[in-house]
Amino acid sequence: PDEIAVGELATRLKVNVAQVIKKLMGLGVMASISEVIDFDTASLVAEELGAKVEHEVHVTIEERLFEVDEDREEDLQERPPVVVVMGHVDHGKTSILDAIRKTRVTAGEAGGITQHIGAYQVEKNGKVITFLDTPGHEAFTSMRARGANLTDIAVLVVAADDGIMPQTVESINHAKAAGVTVIVAINKMDKPTANPTHVMEQLTQYELVPEEWGGDTICVPVSALTGQGIEDLLENIILVAEVKELKANPNRRAKGAVIEARLDKGQGPVATILVQKGTLHQGDIVIAGTAVGRVRVMRDDQGRNLKEAGPSTPVEITGLTEVPAAGDIFDAVEDEKLARELADQRAVEAKEKQFAAYKKVTLDNLFSQI
Ligand code: GTP
Ligand code: MG
Repeated sequence: PDEIAVGELATRLKVNVAQVIKKLMGLGVMASISEVIDFDTASLVAEELGAKVEHEVHVTIEERLFEVDEDREEDLQERPPVVVVMGHVDHGKTSILDAIRKTRVTAGEAGGITQHIGAYQVEKNGKVITFLDTPGHEAFTSMRARGANLTDIAVLVVAADDGIMPQTVESINHAKAAGVTVIVAINKMDKPTANPTHVMEQLTQYELVPEEWGGDTICVPVSALTGQGIEDLLENIILVAEVKELKANPNRRAKGAVIEARLDKGQGPVATILVQKGTLHQGDIVIAGTAVGRVRVMRDDQGRNLKEAGPSTPVEITGLTEVPAAGDIFDAVEDEKLARELADQRAVEAKEKQFAAYKKVTLDNLFSQI
């Protein structure tokens, strides 16, 4: 950032390199095409050659550390949809996630309970779907606050015997603000008091008009209890995902988000992360918020060790220096030293922010006392 190679300077000035070397000689600097000169010398030469010198481009640690974000169209490949299940308390979110999870456990291994990492994948008709289990929408909300979206599709669970309730509305607003497609699962269809038509009528008041009524909202009647409609729900998720043409470049350094994290006595910080683009490998250096480290162990939702994880894959990793926050963005990087520098910088910034907030509070208190 503070220096530039002679050849590079010539390229940027769109002049012959010999001209640059000549000007340098005029300034008493003997430099060949590959030699590096400092910024001040470079701007003198540029001015002499009639170029307007924009002042030094400030290159942040982030820019040095992270891969350029744009992926070319031809590098993009299909990736599984990331689905979150939302809805009012007790309407059956957990039960539906459990019912879906069961669909992939074959009869023979029905007893083998799979490890729970707050996210899992199921396969349906040869397509993979990633489900996030976000208690309290924590990661979902904090990711949105950072302007990044974790999910593609939201399954809105509405109990057929209860209809739309306050948290249903909240979920609808969340989903709309995040621009994710809503699929409605009208749950508890096994109940004699189930009234799906009433639910659909209520939905229209929130601009969710069911397909069968000419709108574009898919409503699937289900019962997490009996399993009715669960396959239908999965098929519709795949359908919506196909329309959305979800893609990511698997051949770049991994980037994604922390779904949840905890401190384990034996393993140290353990984080469940969702790879959004690129491929994460065991041994990769990652930075997540103020946590840095090398991926020591990487496991899938069933506790199996993985060597690598591509786009839309949720994995649990160990090896971070500290416990990151849910919603933190993670990046696989090349330069560990630089990553630590950035982590330190972020920690200082966070402290400053905290301090600023603290100062504000004390000032407010002071004024209120006058
Ligand atoms: P919170 O996590 O507390 O917000 O609830 P939740 O939305 O995850 O609901 P959960 O899956 O815990 O289900 C709440 C209750 O409804 C439980 O007693 C379930 O057994 C029951 N339940 C869920 N799905 C069905 C269903 O399809 N039919 C019937 N009859 N009961 C269901
Ligand atoms: Mg639940």
